[in-house]
Amino acid sequence: MIQEFNKIGKVEGELDLPGDKSISHRSVMFAAMAKGTSRIFNLSNGKDVISSKNCFRELGVEINAKENFVEVIGNGFKGFRKPNKPLDAGNSGTTTRLISGILAAQNFETTIIGDESLSKRPMKRIITPLTEMGAKISATDNFTLPITIYPVEKLLPIKYELPVSSAQVKSAVLLAGLHCDDPTMVIEKIPSRDHTERMLGLKVEQTDNARIIYSSKKDYPEPKEYVVPSDISTAAFFIVLTLLSKNSSLMIKNVSMNKSRTGIISVLKKMGAKIDVQNEKIIAGEPLGDLLIQSSGLKNIEIEEEIIPNIIDEIPILTVAGIFAEGNFFIRNAEELRGKETDRIYSICYNLKVLGFKVEEFEDGFSFEGRITNNFPLFESFGDHRIAMSFGILSLLLLDGGKVNNFECVSISNPNFNKQINKIVR
Ligand code: S3P
Repeated sequence: MIQEFNKIGKVEGELDLPGDKSISHRSVMFAAMAKGTSRIFNLSNGKDVISSKNCFRELGVEINAKENFVEVIGNGFKGFRKPNKPLDAGNSGTTTRLISGILAAQNFETTIIGDESLSKRPMKRIITPLTEMGAKISATDNFTLPITIYPVEKLLPIKYELPVSSAQVKSAVLLAGLHCDDPTMVIEKIPSRDHTERMLGLKVEQTDNARIIYSSKKDYPEPKEYVVPSDISTAAFFIVLTLLSKNSSLMIKNVSMNKSRTGIISVLKKMGAKIDVQNEKIIAGEPLGDLLIQSSGLKNIEIEEEIIPNIIDEIPILTVAGIFAEGNFFIRNAEELRGKETDRIYSICYNLKVLGFKVEEFEDGFSFEGRITNNFPLFESFGDHRIAMSFGILSLLLLDGGKVNNFECVSISNPNFNKQINKIVR
């Protein structure tokens, strides 16, 4: 479906956004592993988290939608049942990689499949450490889906230094480690999002140049109540729209303020954004706060290598901020973008060219110059939710608006994107 957007006047009002996608996946997973009933409040309603729920239903876990929470009834350690068909992870890399860590330790065989995009994404990054732990996993010749995980008697703990900064790889190893008596150690030089260690209460050591995270059977999850804060990655689209619109102000409530995720706020603030964080508190172990955002003049800055993993999902929308900011915007050290739902370096560059920019594409980033010459562009989402929403936001800011092809993919993380936009634009 091609979605058309008209230029907006201003942004005004207040928004409640769906639960954070990363924390939602983990809440479903940890509740499904535990023995007994857990409740999850404000679970993401996106298709990715539905994929996680469906995989665990196939594994014999009861998951019920109640009036204002989701009830998960898990069967405890090694309590999963052999699924009758391949587990379909849809578009979700987090589902695939984290569930692989859990399934690597089971005594039955499982195959994981996914959609066209997920079937191209790299899985060697989890197969290598899990195999080192004694898991038996087969994949395609390119180490992509479908993967089959075979039964094993037991896994052995490992000490693993992450070759890429990836919370998904870190989590896969730590979740497999929950099935061993002795501790598995994961060493990360450049920190990635820390929801897994935080939500499981894992031991973390900080040395001069690395974080070391430990997991073992004693950390296996118990049933509990999860409260998912609103997704900062989803909030980023509305933040940038407000900053770039004249006479605008927006309040977004209960947004995740986890330090491993707030890089987007720091970068935008350095660019001159007026973002005020209010009512900071910790609920169910995760920090959150209310964001008051106001129209701001932005200046481009150099984006440091160390912050890239923290803002990796926000680079598409940050690029939109960069287009309207003073000076030149560019991204380097972000090769990881090539392995996301699409090759996001290619997808962003493609759409910048649609606008009329002269673009230089690097293996690990891009730069561009020139000005917008296309008056009513048709952007391509390539079926990637964050590309679709980023260029949807950009269209709302263009003099004559714009269009985004295949816009329905926004439902991967935020099915109500259009409704939320209509609520706050004037
Ligand atoms: C995620 C980690 C990130 C991120 C993804 C969600 C997670 O991926 O891009 O959207 O929930 O752990 P990597 O850890 O592979 O960088």
